[in-house]
Parts: sequence; C-alpha cells; structure tokens
Amino acid sequence: MLGGGIVAGSVVLLTGEPGVGKSTLLLQIAEHLASEDDAVMYVTGEESPHQVKLRSQRLGIPGQGIFILPESDIDTILEKLDDCRPVMAIVDSIQTLHCREASSGPGSVAQVRESGLRLMHWAKTNHTPVFLAGHVTKDGGVAGPRVLEHMVDVVTYLEAQDAGSYRILRNTKNRFGSTSEIGVFEMTGQGLAEVADPSQAIIAQRYRESVGTTVVPVLQGNRTLMLEVQALTSPSSGPAPRRVGNGVDYNRLLMLSAVGNKRGNLGLAGQDIIVSVAGGFRVDEPAADLAIVLAMASSLCNRPLRFDLAAFGEVSLSGEVRPTPQAQRRVQEASRLGFSKCILPAANQDQVNPPPGMQLDFVESLHESIQTALGNPERLS
Ligand code: TYD
Ligand code: MG
Repeated sequence: MLGGGIVAGSVVLLTGEPGVGKSTLLLQIAEHLASEDDAVMYVTGEESPHQVKLRSQRLGIPGQGIFILPESDIDTILEKLDDCRPVMAIVDSIQTLHCREASSGPGSVAQVRESGLRLMHWAKTNHTPVFLAGHVTKDGGVAGPRVLEHMVDVVTYLEAQDAGSYRILRNTKNRFGSTSEIGVFEMTGQGLAEVADPSQAIIAQRYRESVGTTVVPVLQGNRTLMLEVQALTSPSSGPAPRRVGNGVDYNRLLMLSAVGNKRGNLGLAGQDIIVSVAGGFRVDEPAADLAIVLAMASSLCNRPLRFDLAAFGEVSLSGEVRPTPQAQRRVQEASRLGFSKCILPAANQDQVNPPPGMQLDFVESLHESIQTALGNPERLS
C-alpha cells in the first residue's frame, strides 16, 4: 500500500474514526520493525503506557525494541527522538500534541499544523519514517488532521464496515505509489489480521440466491475483487423518490437509475432505490454499472439472479454496454471462485478466452443484459 515498503524519511498519516483500530495497526507495524538493535519510538498522548502495554500483551507482542513515550509536548518529543535515534517513530495521536509557541489549545488547527510541520522536518532531516495517527469523524468533522493532508507524503484511511469486523485501508494520497491499492483486514482477538483472499471471504458470506444481489469483478490496484452489489427498490411514498448509495457514487446511481428506467424498460421512476456494496467495500469503476442495474432489475421484479452469475460492463446513457478494461482478468477471477456464468460486453469478445466450465454471455445493450439475466422481455415493475 505504501508503494513497495516504508520510504525513509516519509511521513504517513493514518486516519480513521475513533475505535476503528489505528493504535492496534500502528503497534503491529512497530512490532514488525523493532528489534534489539532497531528501536521504534511509540509516542502516546492518549493512552497511558500501561494501556499500551495491555494492548501489546493482548496482541502477543513482547515489545522488544519498542519504546513507549507518554508525552504530548512537541519540543520534548523531538528531544527524545534525537536521543533515541529510532528506526521509526509513531505518534498517537496528532490531536494530543501541543506546542509551546502556538497559543491555541491542544487539538486546535494551529497546534496540529505546527506540531506536524516539526515532525515532518525531523523525519526528513533524520531520514526516518514517522507515522501519525489522526482521528477523523465520518462527516470529516474534526478539522485537525485535514490540515496535515497536503503536507504529509501518504494519507491513508482505515475504515470499518458498520456491523462487521472488516477493516479496509485506503490511500487517499501517496507520493510513492498508487492510491488504488487497498488493504483488507479483519479485527480479531489478536488484533488486525490480513484477509489474504478478500474475494473468497466475500463470496463465502453468500449462502444462497437472493433477490436484488449480483456479483461484479472489480479491479483495486493489483487485485481483482469479487464484490457483491445489493439493491432494494420499493414504491416511493413521497413526491420525489429517494436514492441511497453505500459504496457507490451517488451521481452514478442517479444516472444508472435513469438509464435503467428509460433504456432498460424498468419501471424505476416511482421507486425508492437503495444500492449497497457488501462488506464495506466501494465500487468506483464504471465496470460495475451493469451489476448495479441488474441488481435493481432483480429487486424490481422480485426474482433472484442465478447464484453462479457474475456481470460487468459500463453502461452508457444510450443504454449500450460498453467495453471494460482487463476483461480476461475479471473473467478469470470469477471462474476461480466458482462462478460458471458471466455477462459481459460484446465489445470485449476478442480479448477473452472462456475458462473451462465458464459460460460467457456477451451483450450489447442493457435491455439484452436484463433479458439474459432475468429472462423477461416485458416491462418490469
Ligand atoms: P484501537 O486500535 O484502540 O482504535 P483507535 O486507535 O483507532 O481508536 O482499537 C479499538 C478497538 O479494537 C476496540 O473496540 C477493541 C478492538 N480490538 C480488538 O477487537 N482486538 C484487539 O486485539 C485489539 C487490540 C482491539
Ligand atoms: Mg487509538
């Protein structure tokens, strides 16, 4: 996620809501780097050393080479860092730091900015990486860490699904690599554990055909993920039907609802529509368009799509299904996870060799896709 490793002198801001697992992840990273000869300094302004110790015991981290510094004064922290000369410094969290020169209180924008600048300077002059934890609420409420975003090298956001144990790490900025890689973890009794095969984990949670769900192979960095898209349509009681998207772009959802209504012959105009991506993942690729419309169509006619069906393709305003990059990679991932049928753009036909046991249905239009998936040529509503 950092573009091949931790770059010397880089500053990484790890943000997320309180309780999502930032301190846990940072301690686990410390454990990987610290040794008898390589010190990692863990500056804690929020928790007492005892609390950090308890967490590390829980995580099974003996803590060799990890030094805990309970301090919030930036000048003192920098002095200690100069004495200790660690291989990495962790500051948990940036909101607790204060700086004698800046007049406002701890956590204020001025304090956070000044402390962040000094830590940046320390990281660059000592060629030592610094990881900063920063709390952000979902609505971006706390202004603190935002002021650091343009300064630091990497901004990464740890996010939790509402009711599950998955934690998804996303870069919103990376000076050393791509921002499209994601990290998928699970919060366990022993801290965060990497989910090595997220597609498998997502697919394992589906246990039968259900109305309004479909699966799409999407690309996230070097990975291909099989994500489940869920849609619920229900007749609207108000004058303006509501559209709600979780993990999908809202404007894309509006566009797909309109195209589904007009070109797909789906009676979506008077329907409230909710579309979600299971597991707290996001689909940002147009390749997911077709799966989203098929999920809406399935919900609308109250008929499930086949359990072993995957679908991908960009949908245009005219209702055409347009070609999608890397079609073969997507088909292969679907096949690996046991899918035996895939609906995909006809324009991709030349680039795809069907894997054994996989039936490919090439489609040109949305209308044709809906017929292939649900088999009803009449108006669905
Ligand atoms: P924490 O890392 O303290 O979050 P943050 O620093 O982002 O505020 O994680 C807090 C949550 O994680 C807390 O609800 C307990 C849970 N947790 C586990 O489930 N397993 C563990 O091994 C640890 C250390 C924490
Ligand atoms: Mg914490």
